[in-house]
Amino acid sequence: MELKITCIPGDGIGPEIVAQAKKVLDKVGEVYGHRMHYTDILMGGASIDACGEPLTQEAIDTAKAAQAVLMGSIGGNTSTSPWYKLPPEKRPEAGLLRIRKELNLFANLRPAVLYEQLAAACPLKEEISSKGFDLLIMRELTGGLYFGERKTVTENGVRKAIDTLTYTEEEIRRIAIKGFDIAQKRRKKVTSVDKANVLDSSRLWRKVVEEVAVNYPDVTLEHMLVDNCAMQLVRDPSQFDVILTENMFGDILSDEASMVTGSIGMLSSASLNDTKFGLYEPSHGSAPDIAGQDIANPIATILSAAMMLRFSFDLDKEADSIENAVKSVLKAGYRTGDIYSEGMVKTGCNQMGDLICDYIK
Ligand code: IPM
Ligand code: MG
Repeated sequence: MELKITCIPGDGIGPEIVAQAKKVLDKVGEVYGHRMHYTDILMGGASIDACGEPLTQEAIDTAKAAQAVLMGSIGGNTSTSPWYKLPPEKRPEAGLLRIRKELNLFANLRPAVLYEQLAAACPLKEEISSKGFDLLIMRELTGGLYFGERKTVTENGVRKAIDTLTYTEEEIRRIAIKGFDIAQKRRKKVTSVDKANVLDSSRLWRKVVEEVAVNYPDVTLEHMLVDNCAMQLVRDPSQFDVILTENMFGDILSDEASMVTGSIGMLSSASLNDTKFGLYEPSHGSAPDIAGQDIANPIATILSAAMMLRFSFDLDKEADSIENAVKSVLKAGYRTGDIYSEGMVKTGCNQMGDLICDYIK
């Protein structure tokens, strides 16, 4: 099979981790008889430096012409980088928001899994972590506060900022359907998270989710308020299968969920639209402080490439081979600095990529 992939190396550690993911994909291609065709585009700070804006129309068109997009990370140090002296719509993050909107990537899947081999890194008490957990946050990605009208005005000498939170029933329905569909392939439980005790958008969210649930009698639905969910994630993450939630809540809860795994360098993500097209990226950021030192953990990006093979190309065997290779490398005791513990073998970014290639069968 011929695979047309657009890559966004991005900023910080982005280029080095994407290089490892390409290497692993090439190895998969060799073993399973596929050819990868990559086209790189600029986004974020790299694009600001080269083109004066965080994402060009040409880059968007290139992304649209591919079957999937594989991304590293974008952005720099928000206190020291000159990118953050620019107006908000010219900053690196604006590129990411624009590509999500332009490609209609409304469904953001963020798995948070406790890896057996890395259980010691989990910051929760052992009585909690020993139960293990494997949850998936299904975050709405193109609506809500992120894309509502916003402005800052001065009224009678007082500055006032306004952000609007809007959801239509269609926006809620399509993400709910994605959430229930994926729950059917997992442990068949959806926890819909909202703030229905305060917000109208959440009350509509709850109603529409219940309407969708009628078509999935085999899936258990529960509702949970977002503040309680934040608490439950550290009290007992094993209770969750699919957490279905709106954009802003999903942003916050997914950082929390990744932290409790103790290994954010391991977590992949996918942003999907209604077709097979998707954008795949690690859940972590661009870590500018360690960029270019060959010490970043490329595993989250490599696992994102596996998600890409699974969701955009229906190559399940190939995706399995990457996931198994990662497990084997961990089992053999290799660790990058972020997941290192005593007695293990410390490896750099590039070497980790090579090791995973060696284990692709
Ligand atoms: C994320 C990030 C982005 C978001 C930022 C960089 C705009 O935090 O992907 O979670 O808030 O969506
Ligand atoms: Mg975030």
